Amino acid sequence: MTEPIYLVAGARPNFIKLAPLVWVLNSRRDVPFQIIHTGQHYDRAMSQAFFDVLNIPEPDVNLEVGSGTQANQTARILERFDELLVEKPPSAVVVFGDVNSTLACSLAASKRQIPVVHVEAGLRSFDRSMPEEINRLVTDALSDLLLVSENSGLVHLRQEGIADEKVRLVGNIMIDSLVRMQPRALERQAAIRLGAVPNGYALLTLHRPSNVDDPATLARLLGLFASLSRKLPFVFPVHPRTRKQIDALGYAPPKDLLLVEPVDYLDSLCLQKQSRLVLTDSGGIQEETSCLGVPCLTLRQNTERPATVELGTSTIVGNNEQLIRETFDRVLSGQYKQGQPIPLWDGHTAERVADQLHELMQRI
Ligand code: UD1
Repeated sequence: MTEPIYLVAGARPNFIKLAPLVWVLNSRRDVPFQIIHTGQHYDRAMSQAFFDVLNIPEPDVNLEVGSGTQANQTARILERFDELLVEKPPSAVVVFGDVNSTLACSLAASKRQIPVVHVEAGLRSFDRSMPEEINRLVTDALSDLLLVSENSGLVHLRQEGIADEKVRLVGNIMIDSLVRMQPRALERQAAIRLGAVPNGYALLTLHRPSNVDDPATLARLLGLFASLSRKLPFVFPVHPRTRKQIDALGYAPPKDLLLVEPVDYLDSLCLQKQSRLVLTDSGGIQEETSCLGVPCLTLRQNTERPATVELGTSTIVGNNEQLIRETFDRVLSGQYKQGQPIPLWDGHTAERVADQLHELMQRI
């Protein structure tokens, strides 16, 4: 009998990429699989809430690694995942995105000579101060099958000398979740429930170390958003990492900068769709806003997802106050770009991934 493949997920954005593949594999039944949760994210709001609304079955294994420094967390995942690989070797390991779980599990599998499949391969910010960039580089160097979400990924992998026959452009699997869940999400009335007016607020999310870990940078950004909230109220679901930093600052937001707990996936889509604009440092939200046709001010110096800027609705504004104010005003005055569809972000990526996995299983 063929051993199952392991689908590995650890942090919030992974769960949104895992779900569509689970739906498709469950309906096709041609590739046996098990779900491995590393436990990188463990709060209900960051993990179980996503399994619930995305209808992902309970993980077969939870490694329960929890938080720590980058090295600490990565090392714990590496150790525990390797033990699992020895105890119950899978036929292949599928990893998603760019989080610490992605790196640790691809490293463990490749050392055990178990084929590694990377979903969302090839993205590059060329900014090695981001932990995610290191995770992407190492994971792609170790992967046996690299499934790419946008054209730029093909270019980067070729530049890095990765053989073309290992690489396939399959599209963006996160958009499969969006396409399937959007109707339910729009029934949510999330804005009203949180005390905001549909189409009458800006949605803010912030969690990158470069924006939140330095108290001076975070304080400056919060001051800017408080000032902008006098033109248009803000709704700000606060990531746990950011919450700790805001609490440490002792910051008291004005009433139009509404801080709320992290929201689940359906509320997140609903809040994005009903907002006038989104300000974010999240890669996933850059992609989602492009598909939803909502203006997105990307609070980073760069992006590993250039399609969202070149074709989609995103503009890179860094944490540059003047640029943020100008772009914000441009949206409010109706002068902002519209964006256009991104090739293969069509809601059918998981089927293409499943085809690739089926083919891989025939070869190994
Ligand atoms: C991780 C990913 C990032 C992704 C983000 C989405 C890496 C390197 N980073 O960043 O790419 O965009 O997830 O959320 O993998 N915490 C909780 N409860 C939780 C999870 C985390 O309180 O359920 C706290 C931890 O104690 C820690 C902080 O949040 O202090 C950061 O968590 P961590 O997983 O290390 O990284 P993220 O910032 O969430």
